Amino acid sequence: QVSVLHKFRGILFSTVSSEELLNALDSFDVREDDVFLVSYPKSGTHWIAEIIENIPNARITLTSPIELGDISKLEELKMYSKRRVIPTHLSYDLLPVKVKQKKCKIIYIVRNPKDTAVSLFHYYRDNPNLPCVETWAAFLELFLKGEVVYGSWFDHVLSWEEHRNDKNILIIFYEELKKDFSKSLKKIATFLGINVNDSEINKIAWKTSFSEMKNNSVKENSDLNHTICALTSDRKLVFRKGVVGDWINYFTSKQKRVFDELFTEKMKHSELARVLEEIS
Ligand code: A3P
Repeated sequence: QVSVLHKFRGILFSTVSSEELLNALDSFDVREDDVFLVSYPKSGTHWIAEIIENIPNARITLTSPIELGDISKLEELKMYSKRRVIPTHLSYDLLPVKVKQKKCKIIYIVRNPKDTAVSLFHYYRDNPNLPCVETWAAFLELFLKGEVVYGSWFDHVLSWEEHRNDKNILIIFYEELKKDFSKSLKKIATFLGINVNDSEINKIAWKTSFSEMKNNSVKENSDLNHTICALTSDRKLVFRKGVVGDWINYFTSKQKRVFDELFTEKMKHSELARVLEEIS
């Protein structure tokens, strides 16, 4: 099999993210009103992106991920005149330094890591841009070692958690969005400085429901300009089950124990981990 991943600063990336582009990210022309939509893969990025796009009067353009493609990406992103919402799966340290200096708004979405692992396992199986994996057990081992695309879930979340109290960062939980859509949506809208009323919220909830998004993805053709995740432009690969707690159908009790031990050790000082444990 041709290698579909490469390592950049110790982290696995898809070869569609060129080394040259990753190296050049710090020279990206960041605008103060840019919004970054950040997540570890399979945390609900497409969902949040769809929500933001459906907020009336948001006056934004959703771009493709900053790390997708070659160096021409940085030029391409200059062409948008509206406020840009830029998705990415980068960890905090790899984000362009000017995003931090200019204090751009950042929405970080986080999801229960067991469900994230199961979702990523299916992505590995279905997505031709990712390596083959034989079994769930083999995949889980790679996931726990951080030998998967975008590296360790733990390190990714911890890199962002360090900045959870920064005023320009909003953290949204997938499980919370499932449980109380309206509350999370209001948080997002307020953060972006937009008002939404109840009838708008209901409309957005309907348009961004799992079934609606899944049905639409079947009708859509792959569109490189409408790519949220650098790992695919084929939206049919994204909408699998869309539920909380599917991990229970995959983890053996031994796998759960090993996972929980690592979770406890890695996340012992993590406040996000406490929240995740509460809501999922
Ligand atoms: P599952 O594989 O568990 O179904 P990302 O967008 O970051 O790639 O995350 C994809 C995950 O989010 C998938 O999880 C997908 O089904 C789920 N998802 C996408 N849209 C959703 C929606 N509208 N409601 C709930 N879950 C959604």
